[in-house]
Amino acid sequence: MTKARILVLISGGGSNLQTLIDASRQPDCAYEIVHVISNRPEAYGLSRAEQAHIPARCLDHKAFKDRSSFDAALAQMIDEVRPDLIVYAGFMRIMGADFVSRYEGRMINIHPSLLPNFPGLHTHARALEAGVTIHGCTVHWVTAGVDEGAIIGQAAVPILPGDTPDDLAARVLVQEHRLYPACVQAVASGRAKLVDCRTWLDGRPGGLALLG
Ligand code: GRF
Repeated sequence: MTKARILVLISGGGSNLQTLIDASRQPDCAYEIVHVISNRPEAYGLSRAEQAHIPARCLDHKAFKDRSSFDAALAQMIDEVRPDLIVYAGFMRIMGADFVSRYEGRMINIHPSLLPNFPGLHTHARALEAGVTIHGCTVHWVTAGVDEGAIIGQAAVPILPGDTPDDLAARVLVQEHRLYPACVQAVASGRAKLVDCRTWLDGRPGGLALLG
């Protein structure tokens, strides 16, 4: 089986990258991580890639005069690698419309909330503030809008009395590490596709739900 070539974009610790690396070691895994790019030189995820013998580079966004020149340089770096799928894993840059449209349909992200609730930042504090009792994470296709792309999969967690944002972040992160490998495998294997701005799974509209 030819494995899908995956390029992972990171900005920080790379715990999601690590789970994708670990899952890629399974014999039935439908993907291989061929490259990692960070926009931050200090990202520990770069060390994780190095330890896994995966080529990794930093493209420091601070070295560019504006967003569009960073986006163009990143697109050039990506195109040299020829990935089948681009995976945001804690990648904290908002990319411009030209960049996103170049890769739309083969670029995905994981967000720490049950979208469409709580797009953007500080999701755990906002969930607590809103008084919701169920929270979680979402894997979705990347589109020009922030955290608006069609949903590929979700995993839910309870919010418990007395939870702090850190308690919630830790509980959600455990589910992210289950959800992301499952969703990347579904996309890489062709089970999950983007069809007319909707996710189709196994030939029908729908996505992955990880419960419990
Ligand atoms: C994760 O909570 C992810 O949902 C968000 O960034 C956080 C850190 O991810 N996008 P990682 O540990 O760097 O993978």
